[in-house]
Amino acid sequence: MHEDELEAVEDAHLRSLTAAEADGDERAVEAALRPKTLGEVVGQQRVRDQLGLVLEAARRRGRAPDHVLLSGPPGLGKTTLAMIIAAEMTAPLRLTSGPAITHAGDLAAILSGMNEGDVLFVDEIHRMSRPAEEMLYMAMEDFRVDVVIGKGPGATAIPLEIPPFTLVGATTRAGLLPGPLRDRFGFTGHLEFYEPDELDLIVQRSAGLLGVEATAEGTAEIASRSRGTPRIANRLLRRVRDYAQVRAQGVVDAVCASAALELYEVDRLGLDRLDRGVLDVLCRRFGGGPVGLSTLAVAVGEERETVEEVAEPFLVRNGFLARTPRGRVATPAAWAHLGLVPPAGTIAGDVSLFDE
Ligand SMILES: Nc1ncnc2c1ncn2[C@@H]1O[C@H](COP(=O)(O)OP(=O)(O)OP(=O)(O)O)[C@@H](O)[C@H]1O
Ligand SMILES: [Mg+2]
Repeated sequence: MHEDELEAVEDAHLRSLTAAEADGDERAVEAALRPKTLGEVVGQQRVRDQLGLVLEAARRRGRAPDHVLLSGPPGLGKTTLAMIIAAEMTAPLRLTSGPAITHAGDLAAILSGMNEGDVLFVDEIHRMSRPAEEMLYMAMEDFRVDVVIGKGPGATAIPLEIPPFTLVGATTRAGLLPGPLRDRFGFTGHLEFYEPDELDLIVQRSAGLLGVEATAEGTAEIASRSRGTPRIANRLLRRVRDYAQVRAQGVVDAVCASAALELYEVDRLGLDRLDRGVLDVLCRRFGGGPVGLSTLAVAVGEERETVEEVAEPFLVRNGFLARTPRGRVATPAAWAHLGLVPPAGTIAGDVSLFDE
């Protein structure tokens, strides 16, 4: 392999360590680390309390709970909560996803097989086809669908009753859901990024489940680099465990965790190589900006989309970079994180730019 090809592959690998999305093999590992009851869920206090109430009330009435929509960025626990809803109701869970439902008929087939009280989990519900969506409105509200038999003028719609069930929808893009669909959910839980102490508890719990010996300082070190995301916390723990087994007698302590994450180029605040590359170019080459996205991307040697969709959301959320009408700007925090002092008269000193 050519050297820059090798580097590209390595890049992709390094980036995936801090990606919030799961990759293929990860799903199996994640299943083992998923909390099984509401009580085991760490953090998300508000959603947990609200959902607990919805489920308890439904149990007392002896009815299926209202439909639930779970929204929030990847890796924060939507699938986990969907599974918990079914478990807490001791109801069977059926799993499908928006992209898997390409025709209304696909949905009709699923719905007609439901029993009373079943939980239907539709992941990525914002990616369902239009006709399926319309069928779903009716099923959610009236527990009925019209199944169309035949084609053209001879087609007939046969109404089909569906036993009361609970739909749990998950989406990373709640804004893309059509209003009528959103309105038919009785409860919407919005998941927030986790605090470091919550992530610490998650890492401790996962270490226990994986049989990894870890000190308090070790788990705290992993938590603080996990970008507010349990999936990333669990992934970093697995990489640190590798390092501990090969180079540090198997114990995850602070020294081992920081050495391992240094090796994987995940820094103290969870920034990876791409994130730092963007800030570095912005500060050192463009004096902190403002600089247009395309120019920035070329200077970093990445695609525009990669910079905009992979690096920027985290940098913006954590106050390292601002998107202004005139271009991208490094904040004072970015300069400080790189150990640099913004030159006098640069935009980093101009606070008025940062209130929007
Ligand atoms: N509150 C939590 N407590 C403990 N572990 C959690 C919590 N939330 C998520 N996790 C862990 O993080 C991993 C990812 O969670 P999950 O698959 O539920 O995320 P998701 O929101 O469905 O992500 P996606 O949008 O990619 O589908 C799971 O393996 C789970 O173990
Ligand atoms: Mg999920």
